[in-house]
This record gives sequence, structure tokens and C-alpha cells, in this order.
Amino acid sequence: MFKTIMVPTDGSEFAARAEDIAISLASKYDGRIVGVYVIDEKLIYPYDVLEDEGKGILKNLSTKAKEKGVIVDEILVFGDPAKDLITMSKRMNVDIVVIGTHGKKGLERLLLGSVAENIIKSVDAPVLLVK
Ligand SMILES: Nc1ncnc2c1ncn2[C@@H]1O[C@H](COP(=O)(O)OP(=O)(O)OP(=O)(O)O)[C@@H](O)[C@H]1O
Ligand SMILES: [Mg+2]
Repeated sequence: MFKTIMVPTDGSEFAARAEDIAISLASKYDGRIVGVYVIDEKLIYPYDVLEDEGKGILKNLSTKAKEKGVIVDEILVFGDPAKDLITMSKRMNVDIVVIGTHGKKGLERLLLGSVAENIIKSVDAPVLLVK
């Protein structure tokens, strides 16, 4: 049922919990993970640094998954996180998206972060929100 499991990750604690649940699901359903990190075009920061950070975050996910025998397709994109994650979910025809309620900013007084909110609104696949 959950063959292609997308986990958008920004390397935050919340995303790490989403990654762990995605790995468990993939292991149970014999699925694979599409791990996506979007370099936010709005961040005023040297591109190389952000790219290295993204690669590290995806590598870390792959290593964790490999220990459980789960394969990760690593996708690194530059653009608008919410918009590009939605496009990617459609392009990869994912069966489920596993995402944290919050991310790097982590303002817990808000019910949801903006990326999580946009994904719930616009992704066709089921979404598993991890808190
Ligand atoms: N740049 C990104 N690339 C991939 N996944 C992301 C990215 N940003 C957020 N996510 C995913 O979305 C989840 C929710 O993060 P979100 O960005 O919505 O919350 P926030 O950082 O607390 O608030 P905001 O960004 O709205 O100020 C994260 O746990 C992660 O799974
Ligand atoms: Mg964020």
C-alpha cells in the first residue's frame, strides 16, 4: 500500500521523528523512501553552505534507513519548499507523505508550520503528520 513514501526533511528534530516513522513504514510495507530537501531560495546564505547542509541531511536519512534495510532516493532541490515539495509529490506519484508538524523555526504556539500547512492543503496523497 505504501510503496513510495515521501519524507520532506529540513534536518530539524521534528523532521527526524518524521524520518523515523517513514523508515518504519517502508520497512513494514516493503516500500522505498523519497527523501527531499529543498534549499530555500529566500534564505540569504551562501549557496554552497546550504547545498552541503542539504546533502548532509539526506545522507543522514539514508544511513539511518540503510540500517533497517530501506532504500532512500535522495532529492535536493533549490526553490520554494512548500511549492516544490507539492510538485515533487505529484511527479514521483508518492503513496504517502510523512512530515513534521514543525520544522527549523519550531514555533510550537502555532498549530503547524507553513510548509506542513501547505502540504496538507495541496498534496493529493494521504499525509501523516508527526509531532
Ligand atoms: N526546506 C525544506 N525541505 C524539506 N522539507 C521541509 C523543509 N522545510 C520544512 N520541511 C518539512 O516540513 C515540516 C514542517 O516544517 P515547517 O517549515 O512547516 O515549520 P517551521 O520551520 O516550524 O515553520 P515556518 O518554516 O513556517 O516558519 C518539517 O518537519 C519538515 O518535515
Ligand atoms: Mg520551516
